Amino acid sequence: MNILLFGPPGAGKGTQSSLLVERKKMRHISTGDLFRAAIKNQTPLGKEAKGYLDAGRLVPDSVTIGMVQEALNELRDDFILDGFPRNLAQADALDMILDEQKLKLDNAVFLEVSTDELVERLSGRRTCRTCGASYHVKNKPPKDGVHCDTCGGTDIYQRADDAPEAIRTRMQVYEASTRPLKEYYEKRGELRLVDGSGSEHDVYRRIEKALGC
Ligand code: AP5
Repeated sequence: MNILLFGPPGAGKGTQSSLLVERKKMRHISTGDLFRAAIKNQTPLGKEAKGYLDAGRLVPDSVTIGMVQEALNELRDDFILDGFPRNLAQADALDMILDEQKLKLDNAVFLEVSTDELVERLSGRRTCRTCGASYHVKNKPPKDGVHCDTCGGTDIYQRADDAPEAIRTRMQVYEASTRPLKEYYEKRGELRLVDGSGSEHDVYRRIEKALGC
């Protein structure tokens, strides 16, 4: 099964993707993670993308679509796309890329969470710089308070785009560019609305139910 996971910043796309990878052995492609890896490795793509990520704005489509096309090149079935598409032009581009590769999207899962909860999640989020695992200062600190549970790394930092000004920008960008995708996928009969509130495991069970898997 091939799915999109989309929704506002902080809705839990990365968290739920990790659970789907672990339990359903799906492949996870996150454009945010691809950009952050390029920034960490100081590639030309990373240097171009950094300012956009830090400010919470979308990286231009001309850069993003090419990057996704490359990531999807060797793709087989059972993938999760997280963070792409993020606007209607990217959704059209995705249709073309999947067509070329004779792949098909089965479901577009939209995670719904209230704005207050999103802000609380984002402002408390911490991320492991080594493996990208996501934590929260109150709801989900690393088990021993210091080391990443997944890779043992100690560099657990706050993303620049989780600062208040960047969160505001990301919310505005989401409203203007990404929310319209709900209607786009609804018209095609692919939209699955999932309540993203409650515990990670409650949300995961709702996703399983929505996907029938
Ligand atoms: P990206 O990394 O995709 O950021 P985002 O969409 O803003 O999503 P987040 O990663 O912030 O949140 P999430 O929904 O994955 O939530 P998470 O599981 O981490 O993109 C970053 C940037 O890259 C963009 O702003 C843009 O600049 C660029 N970019 C990316 N894609 C692009 C594209 N297609 N085009 C152009 N530019 C693009 O959870 C968040 C927090 O909540 C964590 O602390 C977690 O522990 C906690 N949490 C999760 N679930 C729960 C729960 N059920 N209960 C309580 N806490 C929870």
